[in-house]
Amino acid sequence: MEKKEAPKSSLDALVSLCKRRGFIFQSSEIYGGFAGFWDYGPLGCEMKRNIKDSWWRFTVRDREDVEGLDASIIMHPAIWKASGHLDTFSDPMSMCKGNCRKLMRADQIWDLFEESALRETLAGMLGEAGKIATWCKGKGKAVAPGLYTVQHPEYLEKIFEKLKTITDVKELFILLATPEGEPEVLPCPNCGGVMTEPRPFNLMFKTIVGPVEDPSNVAYLRPETAQAIFADFSNVMVSSRQMPPFGIGQVGKSFRNEVTPRNYIFRSREFEQMEVEFFIKPDEAVELLCGHVAPLTETTDLSEPQADWGWECWHKYWVEQRKIWLVKNGLPEDSFVEYWQKPDELAHYARACVDIEYRFPFGVQELEGIAARSDFDLSRHQEHSGKSMEVFDEPLKLAVKKLSDEEKAAFRAKVVAEWEARGKTAEAANIFIDRLFEGRYIPHVIEPSAGVDRMALAMLCNAYEEQKLIDEKGKEDIRTVLHLAPAIAPIKVGVFPLVKNKPELYNFAREIFKKLQRRYNCFWDESGAIGRRYRRQDEIGTPFCVTVDFDTLEKDGTVTLRDRDTMQQERISVDDLIRRLDDLILG
Ligand code: GAP
Repeated sequence: MEKKEAPKSSLDALVSLCKRRGFIFQSSEIYGGFAGFWDYGPLGCEMKRNIKDSWWRFTVRDREDVEGLDASIIMHPAIWKASGHLDTFSDPMSMCKGNCRKLMRADQIWDLFEESALRETLAGMLGEAGKIATWCKGKGKAVAPGLYTVQHPEYLEKIFEKLKTITDVKELFILLATPEGEPEVLPCPNCGGVMTEPRPFNLMFKTIVGPVEDPSNVAYLRPETAQAIFADFSNVMVSSRQMPPFGIGQVGKSFRNEVTPRNYIFRSREFEQMEVEFFIKPDEAVELLCGHVAPLTETTDLSEPQADWGWECWHKYWVEQRKIWLVKNGLPEDSFVEYWQKPDELAHYARACVDIEYRFPFGVQELEGIAARSDFDLSRHQEHSGKSMEVFDEPLKLAVKKLSDEEKAAFRAKVVAEWEARGKTAEAANIFIDRLFEGRYIPHVIEPSAGVDRMALAMLCNAYEEQKLIDEKGKEDIRTVLHLAPAIAPIKVGVFPLVKNKPELYNFAREIFKKLQRRYNCFWDESGAIGRRYRRQDEIGTPFCVTVDFDTLEKDGTVTLRDRDTMQQERISVDDLIRRLDDLILG
């Protein structure tokens, strides 16, 4: 069969497949759905589990310098005060004062306009002043009752000439909504009404702990898994006998009361994160221990961590590690971009932050982030809890002991100058240096933070293909296929008996199925033509199918092994089959 290029399909086709084949359902669908919440069906939950397992193996289990954690979702509310979430974890929210009264994120109004039905209507009338005027006096009353020109059609006369020349749909929208000049806040993308001034809206979900509904019992569902890692930092370090550089990884649910959850599972109110807090020595400690801090250059070898690495090398190292994981799990290098936040975009405590962005069908958007967060988080928890977050580093103390008074003074002068250049006080620098000379410091942290759901969406978008096939008779056919990496695919092997009315053949296939099922998630299918069975597996991303046919019993005992992507089949002995599949699936 010849293969032809077919266009990658939009998100709609993928959403439909995900529902039809049991990957993702709308939460509470029988009650009309619940915005921002999603359920993962039989295949979706397998796929999500595979993503988390792969991340866990690569980031925690296969490393000697990362420990795992599974902390509670609801924690002491003081944690959120210390972390800053109670005071600053908010999005700017506006409400439509017109007919629809919709709430939305003020910084997303243009994005929402781009996706709106109103935009489509306006785009279809660009440059046609007469049509626009008729629409404002007629259909517009139902579609966009909030637009100023719909409410005051007499204004249309004043702007009629201008309406003829406008070629930009956003410009037309603004003119119809506020004909007398640019508004302070953009108009409502839903009905064209005036929006309220944006005000901060805290994204944390509140709950009450215990039977008494009193403000003193208010707690929060965690908006990130990271803070539990900071709160448990000392417990993990001591119990696992680690010292910086080392990390703590956690996978788990997070909750954010997003003002406008959108783009399918991209931004939801309940989601899962996979986060590492990787604790490193401050650069000043590295310098005292190694005599220098390795500079990060184009040619720095980042394959193996080194003792003389400062935060810059560690940060870049984790960016590279995350990219290796993404590629290993099926996202090609050219499907994502590395965005280095500019100095004015960084949080005040952050030294660098890289967003790895994926080319989703709705635009290039953040998939995950890798931030260098200095000692901000542990310092805040030390300050708020009164518990020390310092580590005692014996080799550091010994290294300082070897320094002369002059060397110490020179080191102090250099560090104070560096701190002052970064806007910190000499007093703070001196307190830090005094502790450092005693072998004590608060570790700095590199934070690679990824979302499981967003990862699943990126992998599904990347995998989805509608292939145009032409058979020997020249007949065209569309094959829907998910090219998921074997490690991520929910089902690894489909096992089929060619026919089901030959007991010997059927039982032979059943035995193979049972054997393979002990190793990986397999699917048994005995119904329908074999081609249809292959297609059903292609559509859910099953990378391999094994068929027992007449030759198996009558000739050489071999079965066919079919590859999803090439559709090629090879004959293979049952003894070789497991070895081969282990190589292909487990790597
Ligand atoms: N501890 C750092 C932190 O939470 P973040 O950029 O807010 O940083 C990290 O979130 C990752 O979590 C994002 O890159 C994204 O993959 C995922 N994420 C954040 N908010 C999300 C949401 N509302 N829905 C789905 N995933 C989300």
